[in-house]
Amino acid sequence: MPRLNLRAVSKRFHDFQALDTVSLDIPDGAFLALLGPSGCGKTTLLRLIAGLEVPDQGEICLDEQVVAGKMAFVPPEKRRVGMVFQSYALWPTMSVRGNIEFGLKISRLTAKERAARIDEVLEVVGLRGLGDRRPHELSGGQRQRVALARSLATRPKLILLDEPLANLDAHLREAMLAEFRRIHSLTGATFVFVTHDQDEAMAVATHVAVMDRGRLQQVGTPEALYRQPASPFVARFIGRGRTLPVRVLKSESGRTRVMLGQQLLDMPGHAEVGHGWLCFHASDLQRVAEGGELKTELVGQVFQNGAFLSHCIPTEIDGDVVSLPLAERLLPGTPIELVLRSGWVIGDGHSSADAQVTRRAQTA
Ligand SMILES: Nc1ncnc2c1ncn2[C@@H]1O[C@H](COP(=O)(O)OP(=O)(O)OP(=O)(O)O)[C@@H](O)[C@H]1O
Ligand SMILES: [Mg+2]
Repeated sequence: MPRLNLRAVSKRFHDFQALDTVSLDIPDGAFLALLGPSGCGKTTLLRLIAGLEVPDQGEICLDEQVVAGKMAFVPPEKRRVGMVFQSYALWPTMSVRGNIEFGLKISRLTAKERAARIDEVLEVVGLRGLGDRRPHELSGGQRQRVALARSLATRPKLILLDEPLANLDAHLREAMLAEFRRIHSLTGATFVFVTHDQDEAMAVATHVAVMDRGRLQQVGTPEALYRQPASPFVARFIGRGRTLPVRVLKSESGRTRVMLGQQLLDMPGHAEVGHGWLCFHASDLQRVAEGGELKTELVGQVFQNGAFLSHCIPTEIDGDVVSLPLAERLLPGTPIELVLRSGWVIGDGHSSADAQVTRRAQTA
């Protein structure tokens, strides 16, 4: 059964720590989206899994076989891992069939078996009949499908996709995403998908992993990352979330009592008594005429998705701008009182976030 485990994997380039003790368990058949700011180590992680880089420390296991570690290193061609790059990397002078066959040459298949395999993957990616075209005779989306077909042809256990949709326009990206989802369920392979686009990730992924500066911040379902972020970084990163500083008075059985400025609130979450963060999204905020828990002042509006996305700065606490859609256009400086319909409280220390990462990774 295809299964990927990373145990405390670290990678350094000269004096730069690109990956720092990353541990991750990816279950069979998962579709994992890997998210994080530019330079956080996503491509490096994929290259380590594929065998294109060697970890300095830690261990990588595929199907319970150690493929990289202190005592072992299995070369890329023996890992049954397919990698699809942003740039497609197709051979321009070869036909579609030729490009797909290229990856099969090192297999022990006969010419007839190779031809059958090529027909099979062209069918899967919806390119039947286009096998004799050259890459320049294809659209961007079709080229991306050829790149995917090429990696599917070797029947990999695991497919790594490094921003595969970055070169496509919004419309095509959406269509290709639906295709990836279809191909994922058809092949049963495990997919690891790097993207800058969160909406994209949330739409297709069964699991989402968030990285920051070489460290894994949290792994979980899209809903868990959205509703129960393990750290302020994840809270702010996922779904344009916001955090406000709170004082945690009590935390018991998944409920917390916190002070937001002078307001006492009961919210779901886990945190040690002391300083903490209330995490929420625009959809958790509601404007009220008076008696709001969060008093703010409007600083600006933009018309978006049929409403005025309104940016408001808290006036009675020291916190960042919060944003919510309002139906009307208002003047900057208008007082806006808000209630929080929901939220999630976390502690201040990184230790609790890390503990949660480990727990989630174990239960993923
Ligand atoms: N071969 C290398 N030599 C030196 N530094 C490297 C090398 N490869 C990557 N790095 C550095 O390691 C860090 C992580 O790079 P990586 O390519 O994994 O980031 P990324 O998360 O994929 O970013 P992006 O979203 O921009 O593609 C970066 O700071 C990068 O400059
Ligand atoms: Mg990258």
